Amino acid sequence: MEVEKKEEVESESSEQVVNPWEVSAKDGGKIDYDKLIDKFGCQRLDQSMVDRVQRLTSRPPHVFLRRGVFFAHRDFNEILDAYERGDKFYLYTGRGPSSEALHLGHLIPFMFTKYLQEAFKVPLVIQLTDDEKCMWKNLSVEESHRLARENAKDIIACGFDVSRTFIFSDFDYVGGAFYKNMVKVAKCVTLNKAMGIFGFTGEDHIGKISFPPVQAVPSFPSSFPHLFTGEENLRCLIPCAIDQDPYFRMTRDVAPRIGYNKPALIESSFFPALQGENGKMSASDPNSAIYVTDTAKDIKNKINRYAFSGGQDSIEKHRQLGANLEVDIPVKYLTFFLEDDSELEHIKKEYGAGRMLTGEVKKRLIEVLTEMVERHRRARAAVTDEMVDAFMAVRPLPSMFN
Ligand code: TYM
Repeated sequence: MEVEKKEEVESESSEQVVNPWEVSAKDGGKIDYDKLIDKFGCQRLDQSMVDRVQRLTSRPPHVFLRRGVFFAHRDFNEILDAYERGDKFYLYTGRGPSSEALHLGHLIPFMFTKYLQEAFKVPLVIQLTDDEKCMWKNLSVEESHRLARENAKDIIACGFDVSRTFIFSDFDYVGGAFYKNMVKVAKCVTLNKAMGIFGFTGEDHIGKISFPPVQAVPSFPSSFPHLFTGEENLRCLIPCAIDQDPYFRMTRDVAPRIGYNKPALIESSFFPALQGENGKMSASDPNSAIYVTDTAKDIKNKINRYAFSGGQDSIEKHRQLGANLEVDIPVKYLTFFLEDDSELEHIKKEYGAGRMLTGEVKKRLIEVLTEMVERHRRARAAVTDEMVDAFMAVRPLPSMFN
């Protein structure tokens, strides 16, 4: 009896964990995304949908769509059906301002959201959950509020259109119609349900337990009367990585019960840590990630020193066997950020066959990332306080659908 019980516990704890606060693969392996789709009950984003996006927007699909970085969805087909009929929608995404600098993984949903905003010509709301990070990261109210504004600068640097974008901090904006929706949502979720979805325990403070409605209600147009009065049926599409799915499973469960549309989602896999593809990057280990504040020298050092290589131990063996692309981080990173499809294919073919060495692949990656981070740095330096105020002003957006 005793032994059986222990085995049960062990097999449970070695399962992969993906939620907004923890991402870890089973037994230190890779995240099994097919399993996640089954477990969460979302749908796979297939080639026919990518083709449909291309047709509807008359532009090439984003690299993240072409390469399956955004791999799962919920009701994205309904958003496209409605769009085809001439109905618009709005985008909602967010950031929990827990640190001064974003890492490259954080940029992924924002780069993709910018493409969606441009391609579909739709409004966008961006939530900065300074309240969430204050409660989870033990930051003071003042510090997380300050970080929200700092992070807004990085988000603006991604190139969003101020005439279609509203960025808000929870500390500043929660109230009025937004708060009324929070209360409607909160009344529909029992403590048992919240514990089941989010893994809360009796030891968690009640601030955490009361938070999920805050992230839920930007999914409803009536939370933004200055933007969507008279458009209460507008559909919402949320781009994010799949770690945020629990919030929106809850939201979708509650929405019809309070008379609202369920938000649709388009969800990405994780940009992995330098050390390997078994989870997200860790804020507590600066060598696990490239940050938007890293210098060219930092990038070079981190990649040369820490990026996990699928190459063989010796040149002879490498020439003979080739690299294992399945576990190789430089190739994985290039799959996210090297735009040129034919160059990527060439690298994979040559490296996989052992004709190209790890050092050469790393060199190309260093060039790609240095260029990207430098571009971001310049764009961020050009973001003024007045621009932040303009994006964060509670105001109508008269030409948000044009
Ligand atoms: P946060 O700040 O943890 O993350 C911001 C966004 O980045 C995504 N993300 C990643 N994407 C790819 N690879 C990674 N390694 C990686 N790490 C993080 C997250 O999924 C997220 O989309 N609670 C949220 C803030 C939030 C939000 C939202 C996010 C509020 N409302 C609506 C998405 C949609 C948070 O703390 O995100």
